[in-house]
This record gives sequence, C-alpha cells and structure tokens, in this order.
Amino acid sequence: MDADQPLSLLAGLTPRQFMKRHWQKKPLLVRQAISGFKPLLDRASLFDLAGNEGVESRLIVHAAKGWTMRKGPFKRRALPPASQPNWTLLVQGVDLHHDGLHAMLQQFRFVPDARLDDLMISYATDGGGVGPHVDSYDVFLFQAHGERRWRISKQQDLSLVEGVPLKILANFEPEQELILGPGDMLYLPPGYAHDGVAQGECMTYSVGFRAPARGELARELLQRIAEDAEDAAGMVLYRDGAQQPVESPAAVPAALVDFAAQALQAVLADRDMLPRAMGEYLTEPKPNVWFDAPESAPAVRGGQALVLDRRTRMMHDARHVFINGESYRAAGRDATLMRRLADTRRLDTRDLAGASEDARSLLSSWLEAGWLHGD
Ligand code: SIN
Ligand code: CO
Repeated sequence: MDADQPLSLLAGLTPRQFMKRHWQKKPLLVRQAISGFKPLLDRASLFDLAGNEGVESRLIVHAAKGWTMRKGPFKRRALPPASQPNWTLLVQGVDLHHDGLHAMLQQFRFVPDARLDDLMISYATDGGGVGPHVDSYDVFLFQAHGERRWRISKQQDLSLVEGVPLKILANFEPEQELILGPGDMLYLPPGYAHDGVAQGECMTYSVGFRAPARGELARELLQRIAEDAEDAAGMVLYRDGAQQPVESPAAVPAALVDFAAQALQAVLADRDMLPRAMGEYLTEPKPNVWFDAPESAPAVRGGQALVLDRRTRMMHDARHVFINGESYRAAGRDATLMRRLADTRRLDTRDLAGASEDARSLLSSWLEAGWLHGD
C-alpha cells in the first residue's frame, strides 16, 4: 500500500500522516470513510453466524435492573426481538467467515498484519450499547448501518463499576459527542474512554488491533523455544574453580545465577530460534479455525493464479516465511515469491512462472491443506 497516498478512509490523510498523528495517540473522526457503503451482512445472516458453534458472540442487555451479559452461540429464538430496545449482539471474527468482510479488512493493511486481531460486528436495537469503557485495542469503529451516538473522553480515571458482568467505567465524563451515520468511522487509540449508543437499529463494524503484552509474549515464546533451548545453549558445564569455601552452604552461588543468565542469553542470541518462534506464534490460526481440504488433490499448474484462504495467516521476516503456525527458511527468488504471497495474499500466473520445484511443491501442499486456493 502506498504510504503517501491520501485516503478517504483516513479523512484525506495519508497512511504515513495518520500513523504519525493519530495511531496510538488521538482519535480521528472520518465522515464518509467509505462513501456509498452497502452493509455486507444483513441482520439475519449475522444472527445465523451467532448461532454457529465456532463463532464467538455475546449478548448484552441493558434493562432497568442493570446490565446482563451472555455468551453464545445463540439460537435465533434466544435473542430478544428486534423490536425490543436496549440490547446488542457482538459477533467476533466475522472476517473469517465472509469474503466481503475479509476484503474490507485489507484496506487497513497500512498497519502490520501482526497487530490485526479481527473484525467484530455489533448489532444493536435503539438504546443498545455496551456501556462506557476502555479497550486495550486500537480500534476503527465503522458505522455500517443506522446511527450511533459516540461519547468519548481521554479521562485518566478508569475505575470500574463493581458487581456488573461488563467492564463499565464508574466515572465516565464525556468530553465530546459524535453522531456517526452509515459510512462514517471513528478511530480510537487504546485506553480512550468511549460509549456508543444506538439511535434506532444500527450495526457497527469494529476493526480491532491487538497489542501483545510483554509478559504474555515472554511466556509464549519461552514455551516455544524451550524444546530447542538445550541445543542452542550447548553442552557447556558450569565451572567454579574460583569458588571460595562457604559459611552458608545453602546459599545459591551468585556465579551460578550468572551462568544461568548466560545460558538464556545464548538461546536468545541464536539467529533463528526467537524469530522463528515469533513468526510461528503470530501466524497461529485463531481457535475454532479449521481448513477444508479440497476433495481432489490439486497441484500448482501453469496458467493458474493462487490466493490465500481468508483464514490463512502468513507473514515473513528476513530469513523465514510463516504460514498458519509453521515456518520455512527461504532465500533468493523463492523468498521473494513467498513474501509477495504474504503481502498481497495472491500470486499471479506471471509470479508463478519462475517458481522453483521446491516452491511449487510447497505451494501444492498448502493447496492440499486448503490454506491456498486456485483463482
Ligand atoms: C459496539 O460496537 O457496540 C462496541 C464496540 C466498542 O465500543 O469497542
Ligand atoms: Co470499545
């Protein structure tokens, strides 16, 4: 994507300007981010998705006696009637189930894929919402249908109401009120307080970008590199020829702790292990994702274009390509080809013409797994 091309999606800013001025910093309201937008999923289809075992959904009702929250899947008759006000249904990961929604996400690829979480659709009846809250996500709130009134605040007081099933800010003090109609969009950085209330029936698409937490990354990566750690650190024995006699024999020698730290540093210094674990982790398919292998075993043929399945996650670094939790070392022309596939999510006939035997056989195995399709 051209970083210096002004986009109506970003109110005429270029991706570079948006990232510098707004990303992780301050909200941006975009009127007519996508003009003439037609909702991609109707109410009935969204409700059908929420009935699906493999789809994460929540129903939130704001009644006189307070907030209630239930987790899906929901049979249609388990949802309140559309004529009843003050309820909302949130359906996560809809981009995994619908080509048009997946295609919409592609417009946001000026942000690295590694940060993208998913597209959530919320349906709300008049007065419906999830209450004032903050998210740890960067989020683009795109109004797909109807109107929603957003009130936002950069307040520091993030204390929560106790005893409710949702994270609701106890002392919400809105500073700005914005009414979004179809095609409008609001970007909010993490930690920015907001409350969106439907004015009449409405649907909002939230494009969420997750920021991994350091502790979570450390745990995940250490688990992944644990198995190969012994090889990477090598068969080096602790030596303590300079050890003095001790008066406190139960004390752990500081030199042994230093030796342990050196062992970990040796593992981290391995050129391959950490980047590989990172790429495998980042491209791990979401829970509930499974791929449908095609019935007949396809092979990469001349004259054919290839596209990644919408559920496939593919990334690369300088030495590897990663796809759905697997990693491959790649160099030279094959690496260029695979990076193009990851970046553009497709390969044209021309791209494939120069592919090596190895690359073709890898692509064929991904076709067989249903990670890739002929186009
Ligand atoms: C909603 O769409 O109702 C909630 C989205 C959000 O506030 O993050
Ligand atoms: Co939110």
